[in-house]
Amino acid sequence: MRKLKIVGLGVGIPEKILTNSDFEKMVDTSDEWITERTGIKERHIVEEKTATSDLIIIATKEALKQANLKASELDTIIVGTSTPDTPFPSTACWVQKGLGISGQAAFDVSAGCSGFLYALEIASYLITCGSSKKVLVAGAEILSKITNYQDRSTCVLFGDGAGVCVLVPTNEERGIVSSNWGADGNLAELLYLPAGGSRIPATCDSVEKKLHTLHMAGNEVFKNAVREMENATLTALQDAHLTVEDIDLFISHQANIRIIEATRKRAMIPPEKNYMTIQKYGNISAASIPVSLHQAYHEGRIKDGAKILLAAFGAGFTWAAMILKW
Ligand code: ACO
Repeated sequence: MRKLKIVGLGVGIPEKILTNSDFEKMVDTSDEWITERTGIKERHIVEEKTATSDLIIIATKEALKQANLKASELDTIIVGTSTPDTPFPSTACWVQKGLGISGQAAFDVSAGCSGFLYALEIASYLITCGSSKKVLVAGAEILSKITNYQDRSTCVLFGDGAGVCVLVPTNEERGIVSSNWGADGNLAELLYLPAGGSRIPATCDSVEKKLHTLHMAGNEVFKNAVREMENATLTALQDAHLTVEDIDLFISHQANIRIIEATRKRAMIPPEKNYMTIQKYGNISAASIPVSLHQAYHEGRIKDGAKILLAAFGAGFTWAAMILKW
């Protein structure tokens, strides 16, 4: 086990809500279609001036309060995001600026919806090798700013939000029991943001063609997500020498209720152990797992010593699974 303790959790959720009926006025869709095909009822959307780091800073203040730590005591900041404030510097550096601190190692991890688990994986090794002692790990996205609100097949899916945790080393029997991660870049174009990087820089033409918005082959993403999350989940159980009976809670990336349900059934996880927040937030990519963890914790669903199975899949394609002993 990679021993560590989560001493603080926090979220940054924008106030503004877009409901399914709001989308009925924007594109040719219905509450019935969105609910049935995705499980989403509403999603939170930022105001125009808000950036990803702003949401992380709100979440971090909450987590630090719970951890009884000052921001200056953090020694490492890792942000999982696909919607950084700026291509550079990293969102983690903007978080430092917003918190009024300096000196920490600060960097982003780009792994789509698997970003939080990738960041947690890295943090766990930094902690157990003794390099870091107080680590802020964030999963945060502002997907509304890369969404094409004329494309009904994607615009109804995404929302904005941030979730963070503060990790410290411990001698107690808790931490990461097992984990695995992977990627297949050959399938990158099934879910990507074509423009705004070095391949297609920002031009009037690229903006005109909406190449700065998310492009997705929904069906292909769906099939790959179910397959890879099932594999990653079963591998995490096998590596930990555990079965689903030993697991107290299953929290997977919240992209689509049908993906979550298909993964849960294939891994034979009982429905009462499956924790979902997709109804309220839609797909908030790297933020979906830490936001769900925060909610489950505050609802009393995560007791001391609980074993939590986490699984994610996202752009890349990337995937990861982890068993966390609380
Ligand atoms: N309202 C009404 N009809 C719609 C809508 C909508 N919002 N969107 C699509 N449709 C229509 C389509 O046009 C199509 O119509 P047609 O049969 O006349 O051509 C029909 O519904 C079926 O379309 P499908 O794409 O086959 O629908 P599907 O059941 O696959 O659901 C969805 C689409 C929800 C996108 C699903 O494929 C999905 O969830 N995919 C995975 C998404 C995901 O997990 N993304 C990964 C993370 S994102 C990230 O990493 C940043």
